[in-house]
Amino acid sequence: MASSCSPMLLLPQEKPADGPILDDLSDLCTKLSPMYDLTTLDEFIFDRQADFPFASGDLSRLLTDIGIASKIVNQKVQRAGLGDILGAQGVTNIQGEEQQKLDLVADQVFMSSFRNGGMVCGLASEEQDDFVAFDNERSMNGKYIVLYDPLDGSSNIDVNVSIGTIFSIYRRVSPVGGPATMEDFLQPGNKQVAAGYVLYGSSTMLVYTTGRGVNGFTLEQSIGEFCLSHRDLKTPNAGRLYSINEGNLKICHPGIGMYADWCRETDKSTGRPYSGRYIGSLVADFHRNLIKGGIYIYPDTTAAPEGKLRLLYECNPLAFVIEQAGGRASNGYTNVMDIIPSQLHQRVSYFVGSPGMMDRAEAYLKEVDEKSVSEN
Ligand code: AHG
Ligand code: MN
Ligand code: MN
Repeated sequence: MASSCSPMLLLPQEKPADGPILDDLSDLCTKLSPMYDLTTLDEFIFDRQADFPFASGDLSRLLTDIGIASKIVNQKVQRAGLGDILGAQGVTNIQGEEQQKLDLVADQVFMSSFRNGGMVCGLASEEQDDFVAFDNERSMNGKYIVLYDPLDGSSNIDVNVSIGTIFSIYRRVSPVGGPATMEDFLQPGNKQVAAGYVLYGSSTMLVYTTGRGVNGFTLEQSIGEFCLSHRDLKTPNAGRLYSINEGNLKICHPGIGMYADWCRETDKSTGRPYSGRYIGSLVADFHRNLIKGGIYIYPDTTAAPEGKLRLLYECNPLAFVIEQAGGRASNGYTNVMDIIPSQLHQRVSYFVGSPGMMDRAEAYLKEVDEKSVSEN
């Protein structure tokens, strides 16, 4: 581990009394509580840069910018009830959804961070109709683009339930030095170079991957730093949690209802019945299932024939994370990261979670489809 202890973390009461003089601070760190054995997000990101021999440091800088913007949004979220930023803004986005004030605040915080950071030539956000191509020289020389959902689960803001931010980073395909183009944003998820999310929950966490495993950082409020708390996260092969809006079960593919019925059956050998858990904030549902093992399903329905969740800034980034943690994500049939996008705000039917549960849910879809083909 890199410089994992700094003098500012040593509180007076924790200093050893009359013991032997310790050679160095790292020695002291190992002797004190694990709380002092800290690796900050920035230290971790720059240590990992060495994994990419020709890295210029731009991606590292971009990830640290995301960490800073997340801390600002976290502050806004924590104080939302005290300021005048709860509730709806009174406008809808291009997708017809009512924008909450905090959706727009978070969007602006991230957008300013990306514009000022100069590492991305453009961005696309759930809250912006079109992509934004930065026109200053430094940004136009940026090698990356970013897509993000500034606040996920915004219907939960006013009721103090966990919400999140999701981000996805690609290398641009347009020439460096010019403006970002639509082609930069319409890349399949398998081209992502980094992705992750921030969860503003009972604690605030940032979880990300650059394709070499998944690591989670918890915001240590007292020092204002994200600190490594979940190293090399792996999801269990099979969990006991299924997450779906039950209200949609009669208006979606019947195979999903059959899978939910299977989850509710009693069977000792598989630990069923499983528990239904659905918060209504994708990030929060995803994070819980990643750690505990589970499956999250938001299918296409007769009310939302393309599905509800957005491929580019909700589904693909979390698919990259789950895959790096040993899980899978699909539209029920194929890996969502193989879909070639045609629109910025494209929606998709979404299944994500532990591989064993994914296999079974997809098998139900297939069984129903094959039966209906053989009957026709
Ligand atoms: P957003 O707040 O970014 O628009 O996303 C909301 C999404 C997702 O977070 C959540 O899982 C899902 O909508 C909940 O939808 P239902 O209320 O239809 O279950
Ligand atoms: Mn969302
Ligand atoms: Mn959102």
